[in-house]
Amino acid sequence: MSVEELNGSELGTKEYWEKSYQREIRNYKNHGDVGEIWFDEDSQLRVVNWIMKRDEEIADDAKIIDLGCGNGMLLVELAREGYTQLVGIDYSPKAVELATNIATDQELNIKYQVADLLDVADCQKLGKFNVIHDKGTYDAISLNPENPKEKREAYLDCVRNMMDEDAFFIITSCNWTEEELVLSFSEKFIKFCSIPTPTFKFGGKVGSVVTSLVFKKKI
Ligand SMILES: C[S@@+](CC[C@H](N)C(=O)[O-])C[C@H]1O[C@@H](n2cnc3c(N)ncnc32)[C@H](O)[C@@H]1O
Repeated sequence: MSVEELNGSELGTKEYWEKSYQREIRNYKNHGDVGEIWFDEDSQLRVVNWIMKRDEEIADDAKIIDLGCGNGMLLVELAREGYTQLVGIDYSPKAVELATNIATDQELNIKYQVADLLDVADCQKLGKFNVIHDKGTYDAISLNPENPKEKREAYLDCVRNMMDEDAFFIITSCNWTEEELVLSFSEKFIKFCSIPTPTFKFGGKVGSVVTSLVFKKKI
């Protein structure tokens, strides 16, 4: 059994993100606006709270990476909470520039670098992590107009290789349901838990606008 692919869109292309972060850099420089926090600040807060509650497994010096970090606001939040080993990567050099500017201005110690999650060599260079976070990046990769299935698989291989034995992989998606994520990840990952998100009811069915799940590596 497999999931039905999404229709490709410009959100699945690097050109789109470069243009969008170019604009956001201008806004940040001119107005101090840090730009879009995808799926709103509450989604981000729910993940930060989840990490903070697991202080026995996730120490302040745990190695945490944000995949497709955009403006880096999740890492900014974690740095403010005292986490010290934070890395953000994005394939858009403009996103990395924006995130670096924001962290520097706020005097926060966050390491950013350009890396493509579909490039094996790039991923190998990143090393291993205790927490891997993705909000909206798997979604963007799934929207790639060319061979999205292959790209989703390459991304999942890359994530798995970055995980320490006990690492948590936290993913927030608005394009895939919990069932679809669990099915697509089932060969390489096992669901650890879900982070509750607001639900709505329509026609007797309960649904969510966003899904946040935590996975562990399948041994
Ligand atoms: C929907 S945005 C989410 C940004 C950020 N995670 C947030 O929640 O605000 C998707 C991000 O994924 C990045 N991205 C997409 N494909 C990527 C890839 N193959 N490698 C690295 N980053 C990628 C984009 O540049 C963009 O910053």
